[in-house]
Amino acid sequence: MKIVMIGAGYVGLVSGVCFSDFGHQVICVEKDQTKLAKLRSGEVPIFEPGLDILLERNISEGRLEFSDSLASSIVDADAIFIAVGTPARRGDGFADLTYVYDTARELGEKLSTDTVIITKSTVPVGTNREIKRIINSCSPSAAFEIVSNPEFLREGSAIEDFMRPDRVVVGVESPEAEDVMRNIYRPLNIRETPVMVTDLETAETIKYAANAFLAMKITFINEIADLCEKTGGDVQQVAKGIGLDTRIGGKFLHAGPGYGGSCFPKDTLALVQTGERYGAPQRIIETVVAVNDARKSDMADKIIMACGGSVKGKRIAVLGVTFKPNTDDMRDAPSLVIIPELIAAGASITACDPEGVDEARKLLNGVDWVDDAYTAADGADALVIITEWNAFRGLDLSRIKELLTTSVFIDLRNIYPPKEVFDAGLTLTCIGKGTIES
Ligand code: UDX
Repeated sequence: MKIVMIGAGYVGLVSGVCFSDFGHQVICVEKDQTKLAKLRSGEVPIFEPGLDILLERNISEGRLEFSDSLASSIVDADAIFIAVGTPARRGDGFADLTYVYDTARELGEKLSTDTVIITKSTVPVGTNREIKRIINSCSPSAAFEIVSNPEFLREGSAIEDFMRPDRVVVGVESPEAEDVMRNIYRPLNIRETPVMVTDLETAETIKYAANAFLAMKITFINEIADLCEKTGGDVQQVAKGIGLDTRIGGKFLHAGPGYGGSCFPKDTLALVQTGERYGAPQRIIETVVAVNDARKSDMADKIIMACGGSVKGKRIAVLGVTFKPNTDDMRDAPSLVIIPELIAAGASITACDPEGVDEARKLLNGVDWVDDAYTAADGADALVIITEWNAFRGLDLSRIKELLTTSVFIDLRNIYPPKEVFDAGLTLTCIGKGTIES
């Protein structure tokens, strides 16, 4: 099949590359010339494990191309995916649909063949009907079907999520469109991946409901962690104890500094706004958003308390600044709140991150960037792990103790068993463990 992917951002690029690996003929349309030049030369402009190998292979085997011309790319396309960005609009939190609607207009002006137009961008309920209306208004005789096909890719494991999804959701209006979508995803049949076919609004809602539910799960366990810290108890065991109930499930119950990233913060906010707009308030998610926002700031207070109530004049080593490991993405990372609050409280920060430094430099002022955890720890008054990169999971804690001027070790991701930390002569501040003794 000939597939066109409009937008080679995170979702578009991963999806385009994976579709070409399925054996389809794929053209990714990208207007950013710098990005386009990199992609054409086989360079991946984002950090996503495994993507570079797949990109190179599919370019060299002739199934994957990049272009800046929508008009020439869409000729004879069986399917055209819209995967342009939908950032949260400044001020009101609504998903900004400018790029989506601009793309719809351009498609309306240039569409010449019967095709299926599929929205992969995360868009609020009703957007697919609006896309259809726009295309029809530009080109009343255009023959096309509209489909909603939300993505559920996690950064850092996006290839795996694409190749082995729990499900594929397609919102359609006709059996013909359903057939095209089943053909596109046919390679997943071997794994018996469920393909769920719904109407447009249901598919759009599934995406938001899934992300909001996961964000709620994380926020729930974070509040239970706070309770454990006051009452005694170990949140990791509580999470395991509830997660073994298959009705709850054990995933997304790791307490931490609050969720960040390109999806949860934006999508929870957009769901709240949609609820308000339609008079169906999403009160649980409103609370999730507020609790998660406050949590990032609470983490700075937690660090200050661990440092004896003041960080004035102290140097703090920060390990990990991206919103999660295996990505260079800094969007809504807890570090973006925690680090400036520590600096405002008088601390100086020495930080390291395996992939995030280039991006973080643009967003965090006054940070001294170093290459590794031991250099960061050298002469620091406290060490904080904000993001659980593998590189920080197996630290030589005795060496860390020797390098620090105090013994303050703060693990905001609960990656170290308390005994290991205490055996190294460090004191431990972690998340949701009320019964540990340092
Ligand atoms: C998420 C969804 O998982 C994915 O399906 C969707 O399409 C896009 O949004 P992503 O943002 O890449 O993916 O990362 P994810 O692994 O879901 O983590 C999101 C945030 O939640 C991170 O900040 C992470 O640290 C945090 N998190 C996750 C927790 O704090 N605890 C957990 O148990 C899981």
